[in-house]
Amino acid sequence: MAQWRNSQQTYGWLGWAFHWGMALLLLGLVISGYQAEHLPPSAEKGELLWWHKSFGLSALMLVLARLVWRGVSSPPALPESMSQWQSRLAGLSHCLLYFLMVVQPLSGMIMSRAAGHSSPFFGFWQVPPLSEPNQAVASVLHTVHEYGWWLLALLVALHASAALYHHFVLRDGILRRMLFPPTAGD
Ligand code: HEM
Repeated sequence: MAQWRNSQQTYGWLGWAFHWGMALLLLGLVISGYQAEHLPPSAEKGELLWWHKSFGLSALMLVLARLVWRGVSSPPALPESMSQWQSRLAGLSHCLLYFLMVVQPLSGMIMSRAAGHSSPFFGFWQVPPLSEPNQAVASVLHTVHEYGWWLLALLVALHASAALYHHFVLRDGILRRMLFPPTAGD
């Protein structure tokens, strides 16, 4: 039977799917956001932003579901070979990643609404407008969204580098347990 829950040793199918589903969504968000930013106002820019906003809302729902799942099924333990400060650093970086995964879509969504723009979820739904457009709020959130993105990009780069370090230098199986979905023997 498929192993959905995390065990002491490895991530289950759901933890694995949440992690890589989010990584894929972030890729879509980066590509659509970066391209839209470099276009003058046009139908093409509008379409890219439609995708960007829809992916962003999907990312928000995904990270909230992921946090609930994390509460239900704890992540596997870190290897005993890791010192206390290394484990603390890993925990802190994961907390920061979760924080930014919530802040980024939220700031983008409220910024759009505060500026009087739409905030679609594909063709299915629209985030309701704020009571009144508010340019001051939109401008603050624009800054948050922009700096948040740079911080998230930096953290993801450090996070992926740490995973590679664990795999190639420490050889402790940390990357393997997130790279491959669990098999019956795990
Ligand atoms: C090439 C890219 C990536 C690699 C190689 C990678 C690798 C890993 C590995 C190996 C773990 C498991 C750590 C452990 O077993 O304790 C992990 C966990 C995690 N990753 Fe990534 N990751 C990547 C991209 C991302 C991205 C884009 C995000 C989100 C912004 C992310 C967020 C997280 C979080 C929050 C955890 C902790 C999961 C938990 O236990 O709650 N990762 N990653």
